Amino acid sequence: MKNSLKAILAITAASFAVMATAAMPAYLDESLDIDTRVKDALSRMTVPEKIAVIHAQSKFSSRGVPRLGIPDLWCTDGPHGIRPEVLWDEWEQAGATNDSCVAFPALTCLAATWNPDMALLYGKSIGEEARYRNKSVLLGPGVNIYRTPLNGRNFEYMGEDPFLAGRMVVSYIKGVQSNGVAACVKHFALNNQERDRNTVNVSVDDRTLYEIYLPAFKAAVKDGGAWSIMPGYNRYDGSFACENRRLLTDILKNDWKFDGAAISDWGAVHNTENVASNGLDMEFGSWTNGLNWGASNSYNDYYLADPYLKLINEGKLPMSDLDDKVRRVLRLIMRTAMNRNRPFGSLNSEDHYAAARRIGTEGIVLLKNNGNLLPVADNIRKILVVGENAIKMMTVGGGSSSLKVQREILPLDGIRRAAAGRGISVDYERGYVGDTTGEYNGVTTGQDLSEPRTASQLIADAVAKAREADMVIFVGGLNKSPKQDSEGDDRNDFALPYHQNELIDALLDANSNTVIVNLTGNAYSMPWLDKARAIVQAWYIGSESGDAIADVLFGDVNPSGKLPFTFAKALTDYAPHSYGDSLIYPGSNGDVVYKEGLGIGYRHTDRLNRRRVNFAFGHGLSYTDFKIGDPTQSPDGDGYIVTVPVSNTGSREGAEVIQAYVSDSKSSVSRPLKELKAFGKINLKPGESGNVTLTLGKEAFAFFNPASKLWTVEPGTFEILIGNASDAIKKKIKIIQVSQVQLADFRL
Ligand code: GLC
Repeated sequence: MKNSLKAILAITAASFAVMATAAMPAYLDESLDIDTRVKDALSRMTVPEKIAVIHAQSKFSSRGVPRLGIPDLWCTDGPHGIRPEVLWDEWEQAGATNDSCVAFPALTCLAATWNPDMALLYGKSIGEEARYRNKSVLLGPGVNIYRTPLNGRNFEYMGEDPFLAGRMVVSYIKGVQSNGVAACVKHFALNNQERDRNTVNVSVDDRTLYEIYLPAFKAAVKDGGAWSIMPGYNRYDGSFACENRRLLTDILKNDWKFDGAAISDWGAVHNTENVASNGLDMEFGSWTNGLNWGASNSYNDYYLADPYLKLINEGKLPMSDLDDKVRRVLRLIMRTAMNRNRPFGSLNSEDHYAAARRIGTEGIVLLKNNGNLLPVADNIRKILVVGENAIKMMTVGGGSSSLKVQREILPLDGIRRAAAGRGISVDYERGYVGDTTGEYNGVTTGQDLSEPRTASQLIADAVAKAREADMVIFVGGLNKSPKQDSEGDDRNDFALPYHQNELIDALLDANSNTVIVNLTGNAYSMPWLDKARAIVQAWYIGSESGDAIADVLFGDVNPSGKLPFTFAKALTDYAPHSYGDSLIYPGSNGDVVYKEGLGIGYRHTDRLNRRRVNFAFGHGLSYTDFKIGDPTQSPDGDGYIVTVPVSNTGSREGAEVIQAYVSDSKSSVSRPLKELKAFGKINLKPGESGNVTLTLGKEAFAFFNPASKLWTVEPGTFEILIGNASDAIKKKIKIIQVSQVQLADFRL
């Protein structure tokens, strides 16, 4: 009896298994490879269903295939935190009460850590928040190169050097996608200004395109494995990025073998035939300006909606292009929303606050510290904090990266907390009035920043108190208001606004123990530089801003940040502004010409008198001292491994960033004097020594040859310049390249 019962149960189980397998279609079977599943799903879809999945159905979602149980795809801004819910078809708030988030530091701050481990932590943490909010595509990170310090969105990007941006973006992407959430790297490509962003037509030579503006995107795709990418608003060589065959098909999909989905920026699509044929895969935000207005419920009118369906049905456009788009969208959905093995994420966790604070403190850059004014000494008993940025929330505003935070610790709060723990009294003076508003897309800060005093009265009041304080901490900079660090337009000039320079000058005259702390996403002029003993570049650090800044000012954290862009003395020291020609920036008659070529950031200022640079790319001080020893190199395939001994010769633990720049002493083409090609960060206790190992493949010595479309290493002598800033080269290694080497672009 027992055996026959067992036999019956076994047969029953087997038949259920067969039925289950027979009933589960391939596209739902996660034991199969994703392309098999995609192929099966595609074969089951009608043409209208194919059209439906490639364009938006709401502000931030696109339709799945309800009939087949393929879920909708939900996108969310932004690179620094998960945007609050908006209504189905409105930019305004949905009024949800469960969508506050952690604001992580702006990506300039992340880049300033020069630490890919921080980028991995960042991506993992923000990806967890996106996952918890059931978003499948995070519309970030941005890696557009910092061409001009006036670009309103530089705070969202990772600086002026393609190698630094490329190394940091890879880890960010891996972190995000470890949650089963797609990163969407933006804005591909050449979106280096906000002024006239929807129409400006960029012209740039091929060598500059390949050596400066593409590498970070290529790293994102080939090393980061980005599941999606966002072509931007601007035109390149006369064709909008979203319909640019060279960018989207020739380079992204054919050369780089990108297998993800190209998702348009919001409102960046303008023509059905072009976007259908040239490589875009999804259309979002059409009939809107991508920020705050648009036609309502116009989704069927989208270029890739009914108009595309009509041309397909008339046989005027090939089904093959539509199928390629749908395959990519299905792959994106299966990697995310249909991925049953995804973790569940988390929101507003203390781990995320800790990550935000850690990244913030590690990204803060100590620019100057004469006489070791910092960290705050024990004999300091009375501190005066001055400046609007000490009390103004910075997480609201700035465009699509604006957030509704669960908390934002302001600089004054953080400084007060740290001081209280040391028995130090803290007073505050406004000093200047910048922008008293505090609202974006229906999210309000709730702050009352109204101030009845005049600018001169504010300065007088601050100066009077400054004279009585043991130390003054000025907290100023830019903010997220229009024409500042904000999407949609650029700054009008290079100076700090709102009379800050006048105030800073007066404070420095009143008290030599004045520390200048600026919160910005861009460089700015420093007319008071020589008078200031201590200057801190503090970025937009988000929810943990105040505590991160206080950690560094009071010495709980030893600063180790390095500048991801150059602080030149004047705007004209940046190549695009050195010609005095509007065609080069911000453009003329709709065209902008990158006449400066490779001369971006230190690649240009290296050729100027050193006095033209206030603080160099890669610069950042510490509260301890480091000594760089004699490097050694050994062959590594067709490249080299360089080992750099580093010692902490100071009195406290700290981290140093060892940077390796390659210099080609003689070449058939003009090359920058040096270019960053490797870096490594090392943490050392006082008296401790260690080695930083740097790998320089053959491509580190190559320049791009537009004629052959090959990266070329010419025979001759190279130098590897080792230092802890681009203007602080300590050691050199000579490399003799015997023969010419040609490398295919897609190899890199
Ligand atoms: C915006 C931005 C883009 C953002 C998108 C959705 O205009 O350019 O970065 O992700 O539209 O808000």
